[in-house]
Amino acid sequence: MKKIIVANWKENKTVEEALSWLKVFAPSLAKGENLPGVIICASFPLLYPLREEIGRHNLSLRLGAQNVSLYEKGAYTGEVSVRQLAGLVDYVLLGHSERQKYFGETLEDVAAKINLCWRYHLAPFIFLRDLGDWRALEQNVPSLAETVLVYEPPAAISKAGVYRPEEPGAVVRVVSSFKAVSGLSVPVLYGGSVNEKNIEGFLAAPEIDGVVVGQASLKPDVFARLTKIAQRYGPS
Ligand code: PGA
Repeated sequence: MKKIIVANWKENKTVEEALSWLKVFAPSLAKGENLPGVIICASFPLLYPLREEIGRHNLSLRLGAQNVSLYEKGAYTGEVSVRQLAGLVDYVLLGHSERQKYFGETLEDVAAKINLCWRYHLAPFIFLRDLGDWRALEQNVPSLAETVLVYEPPAAISKAGVYRPEEPGAVVRVVSSFKAVSGLSVPVLYGGSVNEKNIEGFLAAPEIDGVVVGQASLKPDVFARLTKIAQRYGPS
């Protein structure tokens, strides 16, 4: 399986900043096979202009949203639905711990959103803090077989420019336990303070199928270097 590298820009970048980022990043994207899956997860207003630019230059880049409404359509001021995202992105990040911490999102909400994503053929990337999250979700959705799981302990998320990554060995143990307990052969990624110094430690482990990068994805030259490294760990 080829490795996956996800940029989670969070609530950063204007349209102009996103397009300038892409201009700098694009030339570093290798062409042909053996590429890692590179996915940019951006705020809603950036998705359409990014999609247009990616299409115009035929870049091997996919787009994801960082959240989606609990409702399919209707009187839900300020929300963005799966119907509106379908055709615009391939992926949706669900259940990031920042959604839980700042917006009161529950695992039941995440389960409902997973079902909505499937209905509209959007692939959910599900963030899990631990095995307890996985067990709670499993009770609420028919199957997690068509998903990508992201193990991201909240304490490992970078804060105010400080990286606090988990040890790759510890991540391998948790990722392996997800795989063993669930019996699923879905990709499991790691997120939390991934940067140029530590990315190889995570990607070198065959159990870890890729990484989610927050802070270190904001500068295009840094993310280009991370992507180049991911390329070295092509299909195994
Ligand atoms: P970080 O963010 O790489 O800045 O720790 C990762 C994330 O929260 O997805």
